[in-house]
Amino acid sequence: MDPVEKFETGLRAVRAEYREALEGAADEQSLRAANARLVGPNGRLTQLMKGMREVPADRRRELGRAANALKAEIAQLFEGRLEAIARAALEAELTGPALDPTLPGRQVPPGHLHAITRVKHELLDIFTSLGFEVADAPEADTHERCFDMLAFPPDHPATDMQDTFFLTHTDEGDPVTTLLRTHTSTVQIREMSRRPPPLAIVSAGAVFRRDDDRTHSPMFHQLEGFLVDEEVSFTHLQGVLRVFLERLFGADIEVRFRPSYFPFVEPGAEVDVRRPGGEWMEILGCGMIHAQVFENVGYDPEKVRGFAFGLGIDRIAMVKYGIPNIKLLFDNDVRFLASF
Ligand code: PHE
Repeated sequence: MDPVEKFETGLRAVRAEYREALEGAADEQSLRAANARLVGPNGRLTQLMKGMREVPADRRRELGRAANALKAEIAQLFEGRLEAIARAALEAELTGPALDPTLPGRQVPPGHLHAITRVKHELLDIFTSLGFEVADAPEADTHERCFDMLAFPPDHPATDMQDTFFLTHTDEGDPVTTLLRTHTSTVQIREMSRRPPPLAIVSAGAVFRRDDDRTHSPMFHQLEGFLVDEEVSFTHLQGVLRVFLERLFGADIEVRFRPSYFPFVEPGAEVDVRRPGGEWMEILGCGMIHAQVFENVGYDPEKVRGFAFGLGIDRIAMVKYGIPNIKLLFDNDVRFLASF
């Protein structure tokens, strides 16, 4: 073929196709590949221009100019496309989702409820299944509800300032003294003061005492339960507690009631449990609600009877999970808490 005709045909072909080749490239890599096929060292236009030697001298200048013009057009389109692709990529990154789904996920071990909370739920579940209602009460309460209305004598050692955490201390004459409750028995006063019998209530929460050793913490947890109706006897109390303790520890648990003293019950008792072959373990205090308490909340002690009990939730958690020191429950060391 005539070199001039060959050159012109080649030039026409490249001109006709380059636009589509470059514009069809969707990303930088394929754009660069398409560009190289046109103007790279072995590109079509480069090859064509190498054949310039064969073109007669009188046409060389004109055809050379046309080839250079085409090369410039290709370079311009290539630069434009390169910029557009970069801009689109940046735009996609800025407006796209803020996370990189290709990163490996972070390990988040699933948590679980604290041992105290689990035991608390378990205890409340047993009592609600027996028909008790759950009540809530504040951790800070009055001296009156914590001691006086529960028939503690004014000079009872438990009311001594040394034995609890007083929040406001006021001078003699001002009867309202607030403190961190030393037991959940405040719930008895709160609930009986605001509604008439019959009542069957449980309540669980933190209590505070000036106690601090392997089995005592200044903050610990109690569950209080009480029932008031017309005909309630100590036998009812024993029956409810037996059912409760058997559900909690298993049907083969032994239960023992020992006479004991609490100002707000008469008679009062402490309850011990023993696993077959094991040691007796004190688990709760209980008794028949004292007539004085009924009078203090406005109930007629001639017409109503009731029983009450209080137990340490932490103590039960320690027994249940074999925890030797109560402080371990409150150190918040995940290695410990995750282990049971
Ligand atoms: N409140 C008592 C205590 O903290 C326990 C108790 C509750 C005893 C109800 C009798 C009746 O030791």
